[in-house]
Amino acid sequence: MAGSDGASFGFKMYILLVLTLNATGYILLIRYTRSRDDVPMYFSTTTVLLSECSKLSISLILLIKEHKSVVGMIRDVYHNVLCNPSDTFKMCIPSIIYALQNNLAFVALSNLDAATYQITYQLKIITTAVFMVVMIGKKINPMQWLAIFLLFAGVAAVQVESANTKEDMKHYNYMKGLISIIVSCLCSGFAGVYFEKVLKGTETTLWIRNVQMYLFGILSGLVAVFTKDYNNVMTHGFLYGYDVYVFVIIGMASIGGLYTSIVVKYLDNIIKGFSTAVSIVMAALGSFLFFGKSFGYLFMGGSVLVTVAIYLYSLPKPAAGGPQKARGPQ
Ligand code: C5P
Repeated sequence: MAGSDGASFGFKMYILLVLTLNATGYILLIRYTRSRDDVPMYFSTTTVLLSECSKLSISLILLIKEHKSVVGMIRDVYHNVLCNPSDTFKMCIPSIIYALQNNLAFVALSNLDAATYQITYQLKIITTAVFMVVMIGKKINPMQWLAIFLLFAGVAAVQVESANTKEDMKHYNYMKGLISIIVSCLCSGFAGVYFEKVLKGTETTLWIRNVQMYLFGILSGLVAVFTKDYNNVMTHGFLYGYDVYVFVIIGMASIGGLYTSIVVKYLDNIIKGFSTAVSIVMAALGSFLFFGKSFGYLFMGGSVLVTVAIYLYSLPKPAAGGPQKARGPQ
């Protein structure tokens, strides 16, 4: 079954599931590597910078595939990125905001357990909706607002139950961690909606937009390395403390970023929130079934809330005159 945008339902489901599983693995791995005592600690700003380099390289490879030649890719980048600075500069703002958000994830996960992080980070569902209204004038009626709040509560409940909360409490600076997450949620909402607005409001293709974004991402990442870790990098080296886990984190950040851009292209940021909520419930259900655990009230209550939220959000909007048409979430 293909949608009007040419992407099949199965393809969209696949992307969303990968996005959700990848995000969970990413968070757990950052938390694991930031709470180790027995190995030298890597500099997180370098990890964010290398993720941007990796996403840029993958985007360029995908452009080569699209044009079926290196020359085609170079021409495309030359005309649409280098010779079109006013268009390219549109991606400067979201890339700076994302650089802040990506660095804050490390601050938060150095000070909070992964479960608290995952649950609190769901607040981005609400910040995203607010920015959708403010920045692209999306109409959200009171029933849909209720749906968005229920969705947040439902996903948070599912994650309380499925997350492992038995971590010890050393290293924690709760306030610093919570403030980092709240700022991250604001960044996520703003940058996500900004990216969607620019991507859908112009003819420029997704991969050129990503190339523009990651070029600025590399610059922002360099600024972060210089301002936060310049002395450390000069003394110990850029890759100090790196091991296989840190490289996997870079790989997961790259997969997450590229898949996020695909989701925003084919869906929108609010649907992304709803769809990832469904994948989170499915992933939790899968892990309960897989590990033979019985699921409790929080999981069941949370799943019901998510289902009700989807139903409420997709109810037809009351029309001023004429008949109402049933529709899916939009
Ligand atoms: O949590 P959230 O969905 O806001 O995370 C978005 C992530 O996707 C960020 O790490 C951001 O750097 C990345 N991204 C990307 N390319 C895009 C849009 C987002 O790498 N075009």
